[in-house]
Amino acid sequence: MATEDGKAETAAGEGATLGAAAPASDTNWLNGRKFSERYYALLAERMRLPVQAQREHIVETVRQSRVVVVQSETGSGKSTQIPAILLRELMREENPRSKRAKVVVTEPRRIAATSVAARVAEELDVELGKEVGYCIRFDDKSDQKLTRLKYVTDGMLLRETLSDPLLSEYSIVVVDEAHERSISTDVMLGILKRLIWSSRAGDLKLIVMSATLDISSLQTFFEGHAPLLKIPGRMYPVEINFEAKAVEDYVLACVDRAVSIHLRRSVEDGDILIFLTGEDEIETARRELNSAFAAPAFRDKPAIVLPCYAAMAPRSLQRVFEPAPALTRKIVIATTIAETSITIDGVVFVIDSGYAKQKIYHPGYRIESLLVREISKDQAKQRAGRAGRTKPGVCYRMYTETAFNELMPEAFIPEMRRSNLTAMVLQLRKLGITDLARFEYIDPPAPAMMMRALERLLHLRALESTGELTKDGLLMARLPLDPQFTRIILKSIQLNCSYEIVRIIAILNSGGAHKVFLHHMARPPGVVWRAKRRFEHDFSDHLMLLNVLLEYEAAKRHGDEHAWCHENCINARTLNGALDIFSQLQRVLDQNHLRLQSCGYIPVLDASGKGTERGRGLMAAQTNAQMLICRALAAGSFMQCAVRDSVERRKPKNGGGRGGSTPQLARYVTVCEDEHQLKIHRSTGTKADHPMMRCIIYEELAMSPELHLRTVSGVLTDWLIEEDVSNLVFRNQSFRTKAVRKAFRRSAAVTETTTTFSDEEMQQEGDAS
Ligand code: CDP
Repeated sequence: MATEDGKAETAAGEGATLGAAAPASDTNWLNGRKFSERYYALLAERMRLPVQAQREHIVETVRQSRVVVVQSETGSGKSTQIPAILLRELMREENPRSKRAKVVVTEPRRIAATSVAARVAEELDVELGKEVGYCIRFDDKSDQKLTRLKYVTDGMLLRETLSDPLLSEYSIVVVDEAHERSISTDVMLGILKRLIWSSRAGDLKLIVMSATLDISSLQTFFEGHAPLLKIPGRMYPVEINFEAKAVEDYVLACVDRAVSIHLRRSVEDGDILIFLTGEDEIETARRELNSAFAAPAFRDKPAIVLPCYAAMAPRSLQRVFEPAPALTRKIVIATTIAETSITIDGVVFVIDSGYAKQKIYHPGYRIESLLVREISKDQAKQRAGRAGRTKPGVCYRMYTETAFNELMPEAFIPEMRRSNLTAMVLQLRKLGITDLARFEYIDPPAPAMMMRALERLLHLRALESTGELTKDGLLMARLPLDPQFTRIILKSIQLNCSYEIVRIIAILNSGGAHKVFLHHMARPPGVVWRAKRRFEHDFSDHLMLLNVLLEYEAAKRHGDEHAWCHENCINARTLNGALDIFSQLQRVLDQNHLRLQSCGYIPVLDASGKGTERGRGLMAAQTNAQMLICRALAAGSFMQCAVRDSVERRKPKNGGGRGGSTPQLARYVTVCEDEHQLKIHRSTGTKADHPMMRCIIYEELAMSPELHLRTVSGVLTDWLIEEDVSNLVFRNQSFRTKAVRKAFRRSAAVTETTTTFSDEEMQQEGDAS
């Protein structure tokens, strides 16, 4: 057996016997170029990783089995080293008559796929996107001909199976982070299991990698045919400290703890890793820490505070991997991604808030949302383990021991058992798997969740009542979007407003409403609030997002987008991401012979035209355009709707809210089997007493701290009924709540075409409610 690289042994001074099998070469085995100095520097680091000591064993085990399960501590080199070792071996064995060696690695998180690919490209001394690349939704940095090692999200590989069910391009599939148990990973494993024992028997290998100890479910799944390769890691003891009593604010508690460690412990003792739940909390903690470290006590003890969350730009993320400057302590504030997906060297102190965001499906609202939840005991252990990678460490848990023992679940529930399965069911159907109950799952989904997914696909007209995929259903499976968005696009094509709709969908897929305005900028909150008001729309947050994007594009055309973003507190990264997604969607739609058309929507009406004949004509045309857009949105979101129950005519003390009452003072009732009463999130720009706001569709549920509807648009009940072709959602209109019954009985009171809404009309509307 040979090593991945003969020179490696020489450089690292390790594995002399292995090194003897492969003569040292200074030529890159991937592209034939001479290795750079950087390559050798990284090589020395790589050779110290536990995985490298086991490479012969790894190659041998993979050679002898179709499936291998690899289990080792996070940071031992699974994601970066094993795929490269296997590719090297495949290329040695490659002969002109055999298939080109190609390895694909799946990651449940986009950030892991991109950052690991970048690291491996650097380690193997090639340009990212050439021999080593990645492919995630809306971002493909790989080359069909050149790429030999490709990191992809599990969802992307699942999508690839739709066009190439045999995955014929690849010789080895590595499923990384299998312990995360994402829906796509679970489904991918089911598909791969079938392939490996049928059509690809003998020429496809599967490596399943997991960081946690509990791999029994994986081994049971492969019915004893998957040998376990356990790679011993170097784990040092970690001292665990609990809080004596429950903390009031875990973000501030984490900040205080970090300040106290930095004050008391010398910088050489090690870096700090804090676990919080998301971007907003991380930015708050970063601000607090930086202001604490500005105090004279820290003048001679600098600290560098770095955020680490999925939506960060790759370049900023790279900084967390780099060592801190001399005599400076690195403090990384991260989400769950630092639990197993990425490894930050040098961490000795871990501060665990005890919380994480989790995707939860709410059947009662027919929607999924990210909610802050207590982590599981397994996650808490994993977090603590991050402190003991290089030397004995300390973990501070910002919760009590009783909370750990009594409140935290043992392990978290796999996504398959708590998420929306619509996209998964659609893809399985597209793969020709009709008997969904008999598909091989590691943990079968609950039958009720399956039924809901099927029901949703029927609502969206992706399935015939016989269960066959419709023409629209095929397109929904083909487009890299939630089926609901494809339904909206299809409707917008009918209504000639697809140019606007695809832009809105692009923003929603680039992070959505919360990622457009920079709330955590070092500016008073009032500034952001005032900036946001410029773009607000009376009855549609979706149109507010469209306003922002269209104006950003105009600023770009004038070359002053940087100043414009600063002035308006706008996150340029979200909008550039949206424009990128827009172009890609436009291309895919084009390939499917669907052309975009504009309804002539313009973001801000020239106020000076009001009252003139031309002005009135413009207003009418604009109202028409706005109505068309909202109507298209209703086509995909008609299952997520709510009707206004009451509007409180109370003016807030600070004068917030335009015109009449503030939006959050209006109460809505959701129209589904459980009619819940709740309010719209305060981030909305809509006016609660606008005539169009009697009935709304909502994009998401937000916790703040109780449930709120977020990103809403006014719609007419007629549109909803019209979309519900099979009369499944509004069946018999037997609603329990009076407001809902009234709304659907009255149906639409406003005509949808040339209506403009005068101030008087709105006043009456407000009074009536
Ligand atoms: O997969 P596993 O958790 O076992 O380890 P890995 O992700 O392969 O990481 C091995 C080493 O590479 C660690 O020391 C990481 O800090 C380093 N690494 C890096 O410097 N930059 C990356 N983007 C990814 C990993």
